[in-house]
Amino acid sequence: MSDPAESRMFPTMPEADTRSRALKALTGWWEDMGIEAELAPPAKPKRLAPAAAPERPPRDPLQTPQKPAIATPQAAQAAGFGTPDGDPEEARKAVARASTLDELKAAIEAFDGCALKRTARKTVFARGNPEAAIMIVGEAPGRDEDEQGKPFVGKAGQLLDRMIRASGLDPETDVYISNVLNWRPSGNRTPSTEETAICLPLIERHIALANPKILVFAGGVSAQALLRATTGIMKLRGRWSEYRVKDADGEAGEHIPAMPIFHPAFLLRRPQEKARAWRDWLEVVKKVEGV
Ligand code: URA
Repeated sequence: MSDPAESRMFPTMPEADTRSRALKALTGWWEDMGIEAELAPPAKPKRLAPAAAPERPPRDPLQTPQKPAIATPQAAQAAGFGTPDGDPEEARKAVARASTLDELKAAIEAFDGCALKRTARKTVFARGNPEAAIMIVGEAPGRDEDEQGKPFVGKAGQLLDRMIRASGLDPETDVYISNVLNWRPSGNRTPSTEETAICLPLIERHIALANPKILVFAGGVSAQALLRATTGIMKLRGRWSEYRVKDADGEAGEHIPAMPIFHPAFLLRRPQEKARAWRDWLEVVKKVEGV
């Protein structure tokens, strides 16, 4: 890595280094991100004997197999898992008449067609500068976002902000940030395809009204939903795509260049991927300088 900002922000993982140096680098990064890491993990035997299979009680052939705890859509909903009780067309109509971002925010807050809203604390709309050239669209709010009512304010958001700042941009003035879903899926699970489909017209209207020069899709859920792609993020990331802006009737119009990148929460779990995410982000920064 030649870029000093890059090496500061995304320290290179040692290649053939000792185990202790690798561990130190990893835990150092975690600490840097505010994640508590145990520096001295309990000593393990050098070679672990293959783990013995846990003993299971003999199966009673007369006993019927246990049913999963959540057997019906109603039970799933009661357990906070949400059900596809909404209709994407209703969602589109609910926001079709919004002609400003303030009107859109009010329309989304009033929309009751997504079951996730019932278990969420807040409707999470956006943060940053709505006039910015770059709009970043993530997946869905997590616990911190649900509490504060703003997207990307937890650990993943802090990493995203650091990446933006390391490139010389300001997260509050140079980007506008939202999510495909405006409500937190309980337990931070991945939203279902139905939930994503219901919320898609809301973010499509959001993009149309914000009208950014460049879109960045953070993570596979966002990239696949907005590009109508089935390819995974591993293949989509780092390549420019064209997002087609939808009008109030849902008709596709102009193109906006869109860059799918790894989700910052994924980078927290897989720090070794930060170098690729950084390269992808620099592509975005390079492009914005030319628009
Ligand atoms: N992950 C997302 O995709 N969005 C957020 O706002 C927070 C975490």
